[in-house]
Order: sequence, then C-alpha cells, then structure tokens
Amino acid sequence: MLRRAFGRQFGRAPQVLCRAPGRVNIIGEHTDYNEGLVLPAAIDRYVFVAAGGCPDLVIRIYAADLDEEVVLPADRPQVPPAPRWARYIQGVAGELLRAGVRLRGTTAAVGGNLPIGAGLSSSAALEVAVALALLAVAGAHLDSRQVALLAQRAEVEFVGVRCGIMDQFAAALARPGCALFLDCRSLDYTHVALPHSLVLVVCDTGVRRTLQEVAYNQRRRECEEAVAALRSARPQIRALRDVDADDLPLLEGLPEPLGRRARHVVSENRRVREVVAALERGDTAALGGLLAAAHASLRDDFAVSIPELEAMAAAATAAPGCVGARLVGAGFGGAVLALVERDAAEAFVAAAAAAYRKSSGREGAFLVCEAAGGAEVMTADPGERS
Ligand code: GLA
Repeated sequence: MLRRAFGRQFGRAPQVLCRAPGRVNIIGEHTDYNEGLVLPAAIDRYVFVAAGGCPDLVIRIYAADLDEEVVLPADRPQVPPAPRWARYIQGVAGELLRAGVRLRGTTAAVGGNLPIGAGLSSSAALEVAVALALLAVAGAHLDSRQVALLAQRAEVEFVGVRCGIMDQFAAALARPGCALFLDCRSLDYTHVALPHSLVLVVCDTGVRRTLQEVAYNQRRRECEEAVAALRSARPQIRALRDVDADDLPLLEGLPEPLGRRARHVVSENRRVREVVAALERGDTAALGGLLAAAHASLRDDFAVSIPELEAMAAAATAAPGCVGARLVGAGFGGAVLALVERDAAEAFVAAAAAAYRKSSGREGAFLVCEAAGGAEVMTADPGERS
C-alpha cells in the first residue's frame, strides 16, 4: 500500500492520492509522430503517487519499489543529477514551472502495479500521475490536455526520448470501456466503445527493449527523411500524414528503407480508420484481419519486430478466443496485444503461454486487462492494489 509507504517514509498521512493508467494501443503504431491517427486504450494497471505538502521548498520523492529517495529544489528541479526514474519527475516539475505553476514544497511516494519496460507506457503514466500530484499540492489546476502535452515535452526535452503524444494523451484522457481515437495533428479526439465481450490481453515476451531508444529515434529520422524527399515532388506534404492511400505509388520512388517506412505509416493510418469503423458497426470479425495486417506491416515495412514478438504473435493468434493480435508499442521487445473473448480469457492464457514457451524457450507474462479511465486525483483511498 502506497499510503503506508508514504507514512513510513515521511511520518504523516498523504493529502492526496493520484493515479494514472498504462496503455495499450489497439492500432496506429508509429503514426503519432507522423501527425497521424492512433487508437489506444488505458488499462487497469496504474502508477500511483501519494503526496502532501512540506515546509521546505523541496520536492522529496520516494520510489517505494526501489526504496530510494531523491530531493529536488522546487524552484530548480531539473538541476541536480538524478537516477533515471527521477528524471521523468524532474522533467515534469520543470515543465510545470514553465507553464507558470508555483510549485510548493512537496513530499511524494511513487509506486504501482504497472509493469515497467513492457511497452505499457509506464513512463507516461509516471509523468501524468506526478503532474497531477504536484498540481494538487500546489493548489493549481491545468486541464487534462495541457497535462498530457507538458508530460510529453518533459520526456522529449528533458529525458531525451523523442516520443509522440499518444501515451500521455491516453494516460490523461481515456474513458472506461473505450478506446481513444486521437488525431495527433489537430489533437481532436473521440471515445470509441470497445465491445464488452472482449478483454485486452497483454502478452509480454519478457524481452526488455534495451536498444529501443536508439532504434526509435532512428525510425523517426527515417520518416523525416521520407517527408523531405517527398516534399520536392509535392510541397504540400508536411508530414507522412499528408500522404494518403491513393498516393502509395508516390512512395515507390523513394530510396529504401524510406519507401517501406513511409508505406507502413500511410497504410497504418488507413487501418486505424477501418478499425474505428468496424468497432462503430459492432463488427468484431473484421478486427482480426486488420490487426494481423498491422503486425505484418510493422514487421516487414517498419522493421520493429524481433523473433520473440513473432513467436508470441503466432502463439496468441492460434490460442482459443483470440479475435486479433499484433505487436504493440514501439517494438524491439515488449508485448503483443490480443483482443480475446472474455469467456475464453483463461483458456487463451494457458494455451498462448504453453505455445510461446515451446517456440521461444521463454516464459511469457500475461495480463488480462479492462479498458480503464484516464488519470485522476483521489483524496480517499480507492482500494489501490499497489
Ligand atoms: C512509443 C512512443 C509513442 C509511439 C509508440 C509507437 O510508445 O512513446 O509515442 O510513437 O512508441 O506507436
């Protein structure tokens, strides 16, 4: 219990408890930083932050799982060197100051039940939960969109991962039972109901994404290079978002691998629209083919799969109750998402675990999740499970 950890560390009870969820992306991978379309859902696994005021002008943060404390000056939180987990917090605190929030002396304990490094955006959940906690202690308010945007800036500018806006938006703005259909250019969004008959099963390969940041930034650069090359023929193309499915022949003139990278993004935007349309007309049967096509495109055109993700996708697709499965998140490790008939969830996990063990020689980890709501400040104990 995080409240208890806070009490042990700081000798009093917290004023607020905040939480922000992890996310899985139903479809729309590597489209956010190309100003395209995404369809993530938040999951019922969270980062929690218990927080209260303190008389000194410092932010004192205790990571309960690591049993580590970091102290930052509240007026210059980004200055001291800090371990990696604390850098997300430094980034967020610095962005809050830039947004004109006067941070107060704060004590906070951080914990949760969201696996780290499994492609479930624990970093975005941490950023958003910390932002809510610092705002609450400071007696200030920003709307959820502003929180999402400043959390993303913290990660891009301070931590140095050039991520898009999807993860922070999902953590801040998701709605229970729904996916979030977000246009990453206009930031317009709608909530799309997911069928109650399905659960989201995160099938973790157990391979952590060590090289991910380098490879991720490289994919971004390749997309930018593709845009630069396409602009000479069509100056109105500002991002791969501006290339639509009818323009696919235009991509054939690009040098490889830029042509394949661009083709993934263009075809993926189309698949996002198709999945949204299928969900809106209640056509779950159409989802399997679209998720399989997204997986193939991520593997063949965007080249972000690895053998363990292939083994897991095959194991999940063949397991009972599976409606569709694909590698999820940035790739190079992490997890496969499977949409699974609720009644078959147990049988699905048993079969997928056995098949993955057999083909990869590794133990997978399986999380059966519900689509959850976005981040919130809770003053009463909500029965958190950290
Ligand atoms: C990571 C990034 C997101 C997004 C995905 C790929 O999760 O944080 O912004 O780019 O990869 O879709």
